[in-house]
Amino acid sequence: MTATAFWLAGRQATGETAFDVTSPWDGRTVGRVSVPTEAQVEEAVAAAHAVIDEFAATPAHVRAAALDHVSKRLAERTEEIAQLISAENGKPIKWARGEVGRAVSVFRFAAEEARRFNGGEAQRLDTDAGGTGRLGLTRRFPKGVVLGIAPFNFPLNLCAHKIAPAIAVGAPIILKPAPATPLSGLILGELLAETDLPAGSWSILPVTNDRMPALVQDERLPVISFTGSDKVGYAIQESVPRKHCTLELGGNGAAVVLGDWSSEEDLDWAATRIATFSNYQGGQSCISVQRVIADASVYDRLVAKVVTAVEAQGTGDPSDDSTDVGPLVSEDAAKRVEAWVDEAVNAGAGLLTGGKRDGATYAPTVLENLPADVTLACEEVFGPVLTLQKADGEADAFAKVNDSKFGLQAGVFTHDLQTAFRAHRALEVGGVIIGDVPSYRADQMPYGGAKQSGVGREGVRFAMDDYTYERVLVLTGLAL
Ligand code: SIN
Repeated sequence: MTATAFWLAGRQATGETAFDVTSPWDGRTVGRVSVPTEAQVEEAVAAAHAVIDEFAATPAHVRAAALDHVSKRLAERTEEIAQLISAENGKPIKWARGEVGRAVSVFRFAAEEARRFNGGEAQRLDTDAGGTGRLGLTRRFPKGVVLGIAPFNFPLNLCAHKIAPAIAVGAPIILKPAPATPLSGLILGELLAETDLPAGSWSILPVTNDRMPALVQDERLPVISFTGSDKVGYAIQESVPRKHCTLELGGNGAAVVLGDWSSEEDLDWAATRIATFSNYQGGQSCISVQRVIADASVYDRLVAKVVTAVEAQGTGDPSDDSTDVGPLVSEDAAKRVEAWVDEAVNAGAGLLTGGKRDGATYAPTVLENLPADVTLACEEVFGPVLTLQKADGEADAFAKVNDSKFGLQAGVFTHDLQTAFRAHRALEVGGVIIGDVPSYRADQMPYGGAKQSGVGREGVRFAMDDYTYERVLVLTGLAL
């Protein structure tokens, strides 16, 4: 099989070695990817560094046109790209189509933001005698070249979330896609290569993980945008304390169902959403539902509905339109989930459904009465597993959400506006979703965590802020 080329300073290149990308569903070879040599990585980094000033000075209309082009071409190639995501990642095709649709939006949002970003903000400085005749004008400038490190779980859209904001602000970017799923990220290169962006302003380098530290340490890459596990994220940050690191790390998303969410219709909706979003993409999303915390007054009725809805999730071939839950990214990942569930059950947790593994596929699983010290209670499962807990009123439910080292997003099923505002104040997370699960994400929203779920924000405009810094221009001697 011919190896897919990577993208070096905007052009296709091949290295001396290559690796296979296999389907986690049936083990077939989906593609072969060429790996850049050290000299080629050096060339890409040097080219990005050399183009910093030129790219930052590119007119907004040029960057916006390129972003609009990528958005349009992604939309045109939706089905082909969705098939590729599904093949290399094991994601059910319906979720893969959704992912392409989201990436279309990310590039469109970035084009829109590029047009309005950095108009500058004027500030009068003559509020004190020393500032008489002075005006401050603040604009934002790129911090430098961005190193984007993307995960396997959204192999297209989380690459889009790194690349699109960088182009929008005129910051060169070196993107490293996940080794398990590099093909979807490399497709973005095909579309970017159709634009007029300066050579050097973007590279997509599928280097293996063991070569990541060298890139992380490179002084010419002062901004690191990483999405992945807390362990790797914090290791990166600790290894380069003087760099600007945005870390999108783990979560163990909680869905709270309060006592006022109690009609049959309410509980049916909550159960369906919980079942769907604890299992979408095999639970391999940082905001999938891992914990359900339900008021004691609705707990029993909700549990029955959740178990029924989880059992209705269709597991199977990800290329089948009707499949809800496909394999995890690898058999090893499924074995880890199996070990965590077995540990919990052996420690006394009640298994309500699931708990079985078949190769890389793990059955949608529901547990209750989880002992507080088992791994599943403390860590992010990143698998199709949810746990149920009873709460004694709103304050207890919110305390249980906060009883976690993570704080990415939380969902609160309530009809009460005052409760919604109290949740917003009380919950130590980056986003509170009222009337739905924590898994809701609109790609223009600020997205990121509190506590050990990371630092910084994605969501196109927010990543643009993150990649840039304010520089003030003080004008003197003006007749204000
Ligand atoms: C993530 O897993 O952090 C990304 C979730 C999403 O974009 O929906």
